[in-house]
Amino acid sequence: MTERTLVLIKPDGVERSLVGDIISRIERKGLTLVALELKTASDEVARGHYAEHADKPFFPSLLEFITSGPLVAAVLEGPRAIAAFRQIAGGTDPVEKAVPGTIRGDLALNTQYNLVHGSDSPESAEREIAIWFPELAG
Ligand code: CMP
Repeated sequence: MTERTLVLIKPDGVERSLVGDIISRIERKGLTLVALELKTASDEVARGHYAEHADKPFFPSLLEFITSGPLVAAVLEGPRAIAAFRQIAGGTDPVEKAVPGTIRGDLALNTQYNLVHGSDSPESAEREIAIWFPELAG
């Protein structure tokens, strides 16, 4: 089933010049880029995007990180795009969960600075696409 997912290449990915590498992995997987834009998240956008983590102890630090500089927001499309991107991203913890061959497993060490975000469900994808690309919502 063709679906869409919202992906962020977080400020650490831009800072470390890994945007090309990460986009190349997305393209080689076969996912289609529907939208791609360099943006800087406002506090409001960051809070909306990560609303489900508002009670977590790492939330203030996560907000500071995600608003700290430019990031790349993208919408990907393809068969099972949500699961497909999460597969190539690897688990949230880049050392304990992400395996070699994945974006996080190959390129990251820290659970917060884990380079990418991908929607975790169709409901999250719809909500997150509306936040980052309101022109695509609906
Ligand atoms: P992401 O997949 O974008 O979803 C929530 C983000 O919070 C996660 O990636 C990490 O960047 C961050 N995060 C999750 N767990 C922790 C943690 N234990 N400590 C710090 N940051 C975390």
